[in-house]
Amino acid sequence: MSSRQNILCVGLCCLDIISQVSKFPVEDTDQRCLDQRWQRGGNAANNSTVLGLLGAKPAFFGTIADSHEKRYSKMLRVPTLKL
Ligand SMILES: *[C@@H]1O[C@H](CO)[C@@H](O)[C@H](O)[C@H]1NC(C)=O
Ligand SMILES: *[C@@H]1O[C@H](CO)[C@@H](O)[C@H](O)[C@H]1NC(C)=O
Repeated sequence: MSSRQNILCVGLCCLDIISQVSKFPVEDTDQRCLDQRWQRGGNAANNSTVLGLLGAKPAFFGTIADSHEKRYSKMLRVPTLKL
């Protein structure tokens, strides 16, 4: 892949909230969560990440709601543009 190619990934960026539990939850029951992590996901965002890891310089175009998740994206250094 030539690093001179311009690649624009248009689409979804979302926040995956991954909760680790000891067993698959039964409907309408509670159980303690062993661990939890937030992880950026979405096909366009993921493709941008993978292309960057492969040495390309992709650009991502998508939307992020003005919310807690937007502050999380700033922690990940995802540049945002207010429209
Ligand atoms: C994005 O990548 C993460 C791992 O970094 C993965 O957990 C998630 O399922 C992926 N999401 C999509 C939509 O491919
Ligand atoms: C990249 O996007 C394509 C099309 O949406 C999808 O099939 C593929 O799983 C994505 N790759 C990653 C690493 O998220």
